[in-house]
Amino acid sequence: MTARSSLVLAGVALAACWVAAWPARPRAAGAAATGDGPKYASGTDDLIRPADYREWVFLSSSLGLQYRAVNTQTFGNVFVNPSSYRGFMKTGKWPDKTIFVLEFRNSGTQKLADRRGTFQTDVNAVEAEVKDSRFPDGWAFYGFSTPARAGETAAPMAGAAVAPCVDCHSTHTAVERTFVQFYPTLLEVARRMGTIKPNYTEP
Ligand code: HEC
Repeated sequence: MTARSSLVLAGVALAACWVAAWPARPRAAGAAATGDGPKYASGTDDLIRPADYREWVFLSSSLGLQYRAVNTQTFGNVFVNPSSYRGFMKTGKWPDKTIFVLEFRNSGTQKLADRRGTFQTDVNAVEAEVKDSRFPDGWAFYGFSTPARAGETAAPMAGAAVAPCVDCHSTHTAVERTFVQFYPTLLEVARRMGTIKPNYTEP
């Protein structure tokens, strides 16, 4: 074998390795849905209760912001699907197929080494909100049961049940239908991107 032909062979072998290492189906540039958005029971707008929302991006927690009358201070924990969070960080807007979960938890107090603190305990309600072009005005609200039922789905809230959700989430929200004013790291992004609603006045 000449030096030249062995060089050619080595080149062919290298090319074969490179082809083998290439992913079988490269992802199309700009491909959207990564599959972590809202999932519906087939043929309906009924939302499948997301089992893994605690693995999503945590936006913030609040204490005592609840809008239902309860006796104790309740914590609210807000989560969003990761690909929509990344979209918001780039644009200051929520992409289509965004899902939020608001998890309410009761509070406990503990006196520990001369300090008194409040911490979260069990879940007392779970609500969801989606931005999805399948709905006439692009948004829908859901309530799930507590405790969670296996394989639970919820129909979009309608009529008098959803009216207060839509009203408060349209009138008092900083960005689109969401309370970005209470998610400090997102509020910064919205300010920078100029996506705060023109009629929103900061308290
Ligand atoms: C009186 C005002 C008010 C009403 C009515 C209301 N919300 Fe909210 N909602 C809030 C506030 C304030 C937050 C911010 C929560 C936090 O920081 O804990 C919020 C946040 C949320 C979020 C997290 C995403 C976001 O928009 O910021 C979901 C999901 C949600 N609400 C669902 C509902 C549903 C479902 C209903 C109707 C049953 C409803 N809300 C009715 C005030 C309201």
